Amino acid sequence: MNLAMIGDRIVEGNQLGPEYLDRGLYFGDGVYEVLRSYQGRIFALEDHLARFARSMHEVGIHEPDIGQIRQRILRIFGQAGLPNAKIYFHLTRGSEPRNHTPRKGLLPNFFMTIGPAPDSTKDKAQGVAVSTFPDWRWKRCDIKSLNLLPNVLARMDAEKKGCAEAILVNEAGEITEGSGSAFFAIDAKRNELITRPLGHEILPSITRQHVIRAAQGSDLKVVERTLTPADAAGLDELFLAVTTKDIVPVIRFDGQHIRDGKPGFLTKFLIDRFAALVCQDEKTKTPAS
Ligand SMILES: Cc1ncc(COP(=O)(O)O)c(C=O)c1O
Repeated sequence: MNLAMIGDRIVEGNQLGPEYLDRGLYFGDGVYEVLRSYQGRIFALEDHLARFARSMHEVGIHEPDIGQIRQRILRIFGQAGLPNAKIYFHLTRGSEPRNHTPRKGLLPNFFMTIGPAPDSTKDKAQGVAVSTFPDWRWKRCDIKSLNLLPNVLARMDAEKKGCAEAILVNEAGEITEGSGSAFFAIDAKRNELITRPLGHEILPSITRQHVIRAAQGSDLKVVERTLTPADAAGLDELFLAVTTKDIVPVIRFDGQHIRDGKPGFLTKFLIDRFAALVCQDEKTKTPAS
């Protein structure tokens, strides 16, 4: 007889609902995305869908097709009626009794939520503190997978230290990225906007891509190179980039103030350029994107 226990209730194993058999739960066997809208338009929808398609491909989940996912996003977004929304969705390999090898023909599980995007006005105006933490993640951080335990532990450590984000540092002593954000630094003397080059060690952040776009045509030169925590703490400005909040200035790094401990001029400049770019995309894109 197969039995299972849910809390302190014993049930027959074969009566378990699919939510208890989801491979996402046992193995983190799935991929996800987070998008947001500004003023009633989803920002960079096609970029997120392309990244999601890539994540699916890399882990060998082949359905549903991206067109169907796009339709689902637009449907929930239309129904929610939220101008500034945060949309989360994930796709797991499916539900079945726990076994590392998935059954052939298993159907993936799709799940999505939508709610108001967080208000980042205060963080943008005042900046946030960050602290470093070892990067304990696997070697394919370019895949947006549901395996987020190292990210969670890093963020918990940051919170304990009164910080908003953990900056992950790999075994070579280099910063990779935030536990849930891309990381940027500015060398004001050289007019350099510095961020780690893409690779298997970091997520190809959509915000990172658009921050780089926002810097284009300005005096800031984009330099893709690695930084150590000591390099970062000694630079003029630091900031985080993430879909839900776009650009958030960092004013304290491992307890040390960055310059005068206030959001930097060039970071503010990029926040404004990013906002302009969002407006420009709203004007030029179709309602669906
Ligand atoms: C580890 C990690 N890096 C970077 C990012 C930023 O990515 P995006 O700009 O696509 O939100 C995230 C966002 O969740 C993340 O979890």
